[in-house]
Amino acid sequence: MMYGMIHLCNLQDKLSRTDMCILMTAAVCHDLDHPGYNNTYQINARTELAVRYNDISPLENHHSAVAFQILSMPECNIFANIEPESFKQIRQAIITLILATDMAKHGEILDSFRQTVDNFDFTKEEHVKCLKMVLIKCCDISNEVRPTEVAEPWVDCLLEEYFMQSDREKSEGLPVAPFMDRDKVTKPTAQIGFIKFVLIPMFETVMKLFPQIEEIMVQPLRDSRDHYEELKHIDDAMSEVAGTKGGHSLCSWLNSSIA
Ligand SMILES: *[C@@H]1O[C@H](CO)[C@@H](O)[C@H](O)[C@H]1NC(C)=O
Ligand SMILES: [Zn+2]
Repeated sequence: MMYGMIHLCNLQDKLSRTDMCILMTAAVCHDLDHPGYNNTYQINARTELAVRYNDISPLENHHSAVAFQILSMPECNIFANIEPESFKQIRQAIITLILATDMAKHGEILDSFRQTVDNFDFTKEEHVKCLKMVLIKCCDISNEVRPTEVAEPWVDCLLEEYFMQSDREKSEGLPVAPFMDRDKVTKPTAQIGFIKFVLIPMFETVMKLFPQIEEIMVQPLRDSRDHYEELKHIDDAMSEVAGTKGGHSLCSWLNSSIA
């Protein structure tokens, strides 16, 4: 996705080769060794990662640390021929981008970027830094930009990950988020809010700078929102028929009605 966005936005004409290298490397490495339980779980369960990173973006700090552990192996060090001064800058920039993928920072990062878009200046380092952070964020959560037949199986994986976490939270007596609870969330309810309130506002902000993403990225998001809203209407109608107020997915309703 990062490679695609770089070319769609013609960033090869606007950014340095170093910046493109930073973007691609950070994108590849940004979720290394993810355990499948989010920061809130890490902190509440007082895991090794939360203790190691003092509850400060434990996962993203870990992804970045693992990236640089790998890069420190001679056979993996793609920066072996880079001057030490330059490496310091590249390393700092990659760390910044990986840490920017912590969704707890979403509002803050998007706000800073919004302040640059109206008179964006590619010669201003601060503007480019905000853009790179938003680009890695877009790629990170870009699943719903892809065609339904590609995106939807990943939503099943996402829900499975959520359910694993909420089951574990229940069994350990920790707080459980309703949107992760297998008794409350469905595929459409999980996606609609995220597409409407997180994805579309962010991609529409990027669209001010790169109008070409509307057709290729924003329209698919709108289509996906409409697709899931249709599914939700069917879910709602079915649970009304079954007399089970809310919460049951189409599949579990069908399964139980067939059985
Ligand atoms: C992480 O999980 C908790 C539940 O433990 C939830 O409240 C929180 O919103 C989740 N964070 C993200 C970014 O999904
Ligand atoms: Zn990610």
